[in-house]
Amino acid sequence: MKLTKTKAELRDMLKDIRREGKSIGLVPTMGYLHEGHLSLIRKARQENDIVVVSIFVNPTQFGEGEDYGTYPRDLDRDTGRCREAGADIVFAPEAEEMYAKTNAAFVDMSRLTDRLCGASRPGHFRGVMTVVAKLFNIVLPDRAYFGQKDAQQVLVVKRMVRDLDFDVHIVEAPIVRETDGLAMSSRNTYLSPAERRAALVLSQSLFEARQRIEGGERRADVIRNGIAGQISSQPLARLDYAEVVDAETLEPLREIRGSVLIAVAARLGDTRLIDNIKLEV
Ligand code: PAJ
Repeated sequence: MKLTKTKAELRDMLKDIRREGKSIGLVPTMGYLHEGHLSLIRKARQENDIVVVSIFVNPTQFGEGEDYGTYPRDLDRDTGRCREAGADIVFAPEAEEMYAKTNAAFVDMSRLTDRLCGASRPGHFRGVMTVVAKLFNIVLPDRAYFGQKDAQQVLVVKRMVRDLDFDVHIVEAPIVRETDGLAMSSRNTYLSPAERRAALVLSQSLFEARQRIEGGERRADVIRNGIAGQISSQPLARLDYAEVVDAETLEPLREIRGSVLIAVAARLGDTRLIDNIKLEV
């Protein structure tokens, strides 16, 4: 496995690989890798000749007062995990390598980004799309792998690929959870033991919602209010949003029908966590 910190060297490595007709899978990450990330790398390993993992804490997707400075970083541990999961190349640039000081171009979207996480994190998806577009242009992957954990992100990336004609297939992989149900996240390391216990309310409220829907409940507001009430009743959690939306358009639903995304975000102390479930009803 090779590690490179420059775009030029990465492009150089990939040029020969592409000339040999080999397929390239890209797994974009911000590092501090856990089983959720590794599931994407392993999937990419199965489906491509060459697997590139990018590790880059992308400054443009963090808002004022968010955790860019404190986001956990451990490149040594991450490269070890990448190797074990079968990656061929790790691309870990510094911010100065990724963005010119005078960078002026960004990728923006007029739909899909005004709800859910886009509403509580203005500018976030602009930063995500910009860095993902840059990674696609640098790596020119055949396939790129994203987790359902960030359900809105996958949708936004798919829409960008369609609307800007990127020649890449987006593969979505299911959420990997801790044994008690908490969705894995690099940010879980911020949680105190009490917050870690309280954080279970996110997945539990979603699982309960799924049961109620399987039991016949079709009123979206009943489901939404149930989740919001459950999260709000946990003293250490502060609800950011609980939404029942169409899984393709992210439009709020009145009746639960079709492809449904139920997404939640909440703060535990200073830590913002998200989770979701998708249902076909
Ligand atoms: P990061 O949060 O590091 O996540 C990298 C990828 O891993 C994303 O596609 C995310 O959805 C996926 N992932 C995270 N936790 C997961 C889990 N528990 N189960 C399955 N997949 C999981 O998302 C980003 O980084 C950034 O926004 C990025 C796309 C790299 C752009 O900077």
